[in-house]
Amino acid sequence: MKNKVSVIGAGNVGATVAQYIAQDELADVVLVDIIDGLPQGKALDLLEASPVRGFDSIITGTNDYKDTAHSDIVVITSGLARKPNMSREDLLIKNTEIIKSVTEKVAKESPNSIIIMVTNPLDIMTYVCLKVSGFSPNKVLGMAGILDSARFRAFVARELNVSVADTHAIVLGGHGDLMVPLPRYCTVCGVPITELLSGKKIDEIVERTRKAGGEIVAHLKTGSAYYSPGACATEMVAAILKDKKRLIPCAAYLKGEYGLTDVYAGVPVILGAGGIEKIVEIKLTKEEKNALHSSAEIVKKNIKKITI
Ligand code: APR
Repeated sequence: MKNKVSVIGAGNVGATVAQYIAQDELADVVLVDIIDGLPQGKALDLLEASPVRGFDSIITGTNDYKDTAHSDIVVITSGLARKPNMSREDLLIKNTEIIKSVTEKVAKESPNSIIIMVTNPLDIMTYVCLKVSGFSPNKVLGMAGILDSARFRAFVARELNVSVADTHAIVLGGHGDLMVPLPRYCTVCGVPITELLSGKKIDEIVERTRKAGGEIVAHLKTGSAYYSPGACATEMVAAILKDKKRLIPCAAYLKGEYGLTDVYAGVPVILGAGGIEKIVEIKLTKEEKNALHSSAEIVKKNIKKITI
């Protein structure tokens, strides 16, 4: 039987996730949006590309959550995106309402699914989704660390003129300007970048990674990034459906790990058929741990501003 993935929100990120999942033949895709015609039109367009691109995944568009029933995975991208001069936190109140109502419907139709949150502010929306769905924490995760790490890798690869395939990076913390890139764990084919780049250059890459989402918003002016978030959400879907046991940084619910409780933060996890199968605790320096805690504090403060 083919896998089924529902993507909620047929905007820029949602449509890109649907495209990548279908092209990689990971699953049949149901694209959902509140706007009548938008998911139907994009799904049909994508389906008509399938003979040329050579994929047999079936994509359907709908405004009815009944069509999402029994999904294996649900990727949530519905909500407002950033515009210039907006932080991810500026989306907090409006997107909380959207995520609450979407989660209720998703959980009702697919009570055994795994939910991947993409909507920002990411760590808080994932928390809202956990609480509203009543799912176990291993089945509600957020797409952030993998994207922040991908951005870091792209910058390192360009700086050293090496293939991105040989780069590895790990970025922890909340998906905000206080995220915590860990340069000493970033390597090119196992060689730490601290051996390959100057401290000044690494600092510049760290800073650019922190602001990478904003850099794209400043260019686009009418919205935020979607190719890279779409690619990263798809990578998480693949890890789960193929039970790959990938070690990927994701927003995970912490119950004491890294000294943090009742909060989502980007940490390395093993991703497989069970969703988050293990939270991996790596040794952090005092500074790194402090940075992770500061970033989680902001998330906790923002959680207090909303009613779930
Ligand atoms: N139910 C379903 N879809 C909804 C709902 C809802 N209650 N509310 C809004 N939407 C849809 C919108 O109609 C729109 O089509 O969500 C879609 C969002 O698409 P875009 O505006 O193109 O935003 P996008 O760039 O896809 O970003 C979506 O992902 O990366 C994050 O920060 C980003 O929070 C933002 C989200």
